[in-house]
Amino acid sequence: MARVLTYISFIVFLLVLCMAAQAGTGPTPDNEVKALSEIAEQLGKKDWNINVEQCINDLSWLTPRLDWRPPCNNSLFCNCSYPDSLCHVVALILKEQDLGGVLPRSLVKLPYLMYLDLSRNFLGGNIPHEWASTKLEFLNIKNNMFSGMVPLELGKLVNLENFILSANNLSGELPFAITKLTKLTELRISSNNFTGRMPDFFRSWKQLEKLEIQASGFEGPIPSSISILSNLTELDLSFNRLEGHIPDLHDLNFLKFM
Ligand SMILES: *[C@@H]1O[C@H](CO)[C@@H](O)[C@H](O)[C@H]1NC(C)=O
Ligand SMILES: *[C@@H]1O[C@H](CO)[C@@H](O)[C@H](O)[C@H]1NC(C)=O
Ligand SMILES: *[C@@H]1O[C@H](CO)[C@@H](O)[C@H](O)[C@H]1NC(C)=O
Ligand SMILES: *[C@@H]1O[C@H](CO)[C@@H](O)[C@H](O)[C@H]1NC(C)=O
Ligand SMILES: *[C@@H]1O[C@H](CO)[C@@H](O)[C@H](O)[C@H]1NC(C)=O
Repeated sequence: MARVLTYISFIVFLLVLCMAAQAGTGPTPDNEVKALSEIAEQLGKKDWNINVEQCINDLSWLTPRLDWRPPCNNSLFCNCSYPDSLCHVVALILKEQDLGGVLPRSLVKLPYLMYLDLSRNFLGGNIPHEWASTKLEFLNIKNNMFSGMVPLELGKLVNLENFILSANNLSGELPFAITKLTKLTELRISSNNFTGRMPDFFRSWKQLEKLEIQASGFEGPIPSSISILSNLTELDLSFNRLEGHIPDLHDLNFLKFM
């Protein structure tokens, strides 16, 4: 019964939020509402807090995309400006909500989702390879308990700009397929349990501005290709088992923090 009530409040919350987005627009499609209740179940989200008025009232999803990253820990955002006149879920933010489930495979049923932040929970298991079919631009699952390898299928997330996996227990080597993520501006994979040499993928990630590979388990030399990351402002490669020469970083003119 409590679960049913949770779902009802969840759905009501979603509808309120989507209707608040823009007067006179259509509702959220049933399949997205259903996907959200499945996602809540898979994440162990039992206490959806519908009382996040600053996010409901703040129509930040209608402002330009770079600014709509909201200062919310527990929110869901819809965009009601699609040509089909429906309100689609574009962002899901469940930071520090004591979630103890697994990463939801049902995420693929939110075809407009661009922004996902599940950081600082107790989520475990593997990163679902099914996520490859999403349109994610921002993915943050840091500070959880994920294990296993980064699925090579994630190389299909070609729109990804921010990829944040730090502070988990991910292992194995990074799949070569993630060199297809050429729009990355932020990559943080610190505090994991990867193996092998630091991958020489930097030529594919020319747009990188923030790169954090601290204490992630890698060994060997720092690939000299790192010196082509001319837009880098933040770099941290400390606490690995790296050896050999430090590449010439003279061309990294914007680097502020090392
Ligand atoms: C989000 O959580 C952090 C840490 O618990 C807290 O400091 C912050 O005020 C929260 N933000 C909002 C908008 O509730
Ligand atoms: C909402 O969707 C429309 C149509 O795709 C797009 O033009 C607009 O930029 C989106 N708004 C935000 C804030 O992403
Ligand atoms: C991390 O995963 C490995 C298996 O890959 C396991 O042996 C180890 O206990 C895990 N560590 C933590 C802290 O969960
Ligand atoms: C790292 O992985 C190895 C082998 O999979 C495992 O034995 C070890 O406990 C892991 N380390 C941590 C800190 O989880
Ligand atoms: C560096 O950033 C500038 C300004 O955002 C952008 O125009 C340029 O394309 C970027 N350079 C690379 C190599 O991505």
